[in-house]
Amino acid sequence: MKKRMLSGIKPTGQLTLGNYIGALRNFVNYQDDYEMIVFIANLHCITEYQDPEDLKKNLTDAVALYLACGLDPNKATIFLQTDVPAHAQLGYIMACNTYLGELNRMTQFKDKSAKGEKNLTAGLYTYPCLMAADILLYDANYVPVGEDQKQHVELTRDIAQRFNNKYGETFVVPEPLIAKVGARIMSLTDPSKKMSKSDETNKGCIYLLDDPKVARKKIMSAVTDSLNDIKLDKENQPGLYNLIEIASALSGRSMEDIVEEFKGQGYGKLKGYVADVVCDTLEKIQGRYKEIIESRQIEKVLEEGAQKASAIANKTLDKAVKKIGLEIKYQ
Ligand code: TYM
Repeated sequence: MKKRMLSGIKPTGQLTLGNYIGALRNFVNYQDDYEMIVFIANLHCITEYQDPEDLKKNLTDAVALYLACGLDPNKATIFLQTDVPAHAQLGYIMACNTYLGELNRMTQFKDKSAKGEKNLTAGLYTYPCLMAADILLYDANYVPVGEDQKQHVELTRDIAQRFNNKYGETFVVPEPLIAKVGARIMSLTDPSKKMSKSDETNKGCIYLLDDPKVARKKIMSAVTDSLNDIKLDKENQPGLYNLIEIASALSGRSMEDIVEEFKGQGYGKLKGYVADVVCDTLEKIQGRYKEIIESRQIEKVLEEGAQKASAIANKTLDKAVKKIGLEIKYQ
């Protein structure tokens, strides 16, 4: 029997090249060898206010991009989180099995509160509990994610083990699966920060639906260094390293091979190559994206996905509810 894999993306904005390299392309690569379950984490989106019209568009685009990047609904189960209410139900149960100390240690929340962001919601704070539910509902063996989500999957493991110890064997304890290349793509304007959807200037982040000309410009003006030496030195040349990593992830060539080709040449030449590889990827994805939007297949894919997902999720929820003793059965 195939091992099961589950992952999700939270489309609080347009999907990025970071999402593609760190997550989406791996889902596609794994869909033949694993039972793949991939969802759109729309409940996670609303931990911060989203304009409803923007949110709707971002959700539709995310599904279209899943398909455009090569996820095949005949192989992978693709669904919207809110179409399977068991996520929210088990999410509450998970929150009752998570300690405040654990949530206080989550870097995502810590970073936001350290920045002095006001009006952070309770939903943002308990987000990792919902994420644990997302994973545990499906008895997932592996969770393919980028580096930044590792802490959340580790917490999920802790919660699962705690629950199993308290109530008896209920959940499969999952493992994060993090690719060697591309697990943390950095901002093009500040290589000390992750490339992120919430990039304020938009210049550090490439979106999968960016016009390739715009994407090329962003790469050509990416921050590098003044050493003028093409080599792999992540600490002293993080911008350059990031560009080589992007090209390596998308071309399938090793980083060393790319360095070998461009050694002794100017950074402009290398950036031109990275831009070619990125634009080639974007053009392919965008071509398919247009076809998918026009074909109006999204609703059907989500409907079928939700049916398959619900069958698995409801069973697990039921098992957990029974173990906890929440049920009253009349004889
Ligand atoms: P999200 O939407 O922030 O990111 C989705 C996936 O993309 C990866 N990623 C990156 N990888 C490399 N470089 C980057 N710059 C980069 N930016 C994002 C993330 O690591 C992630 O794998 N909490 C999750 C969504 C979620 C989820 C889940 C994931 C909800 N429930 C259950 C797995 C399993 C999130 O916000 O991802």
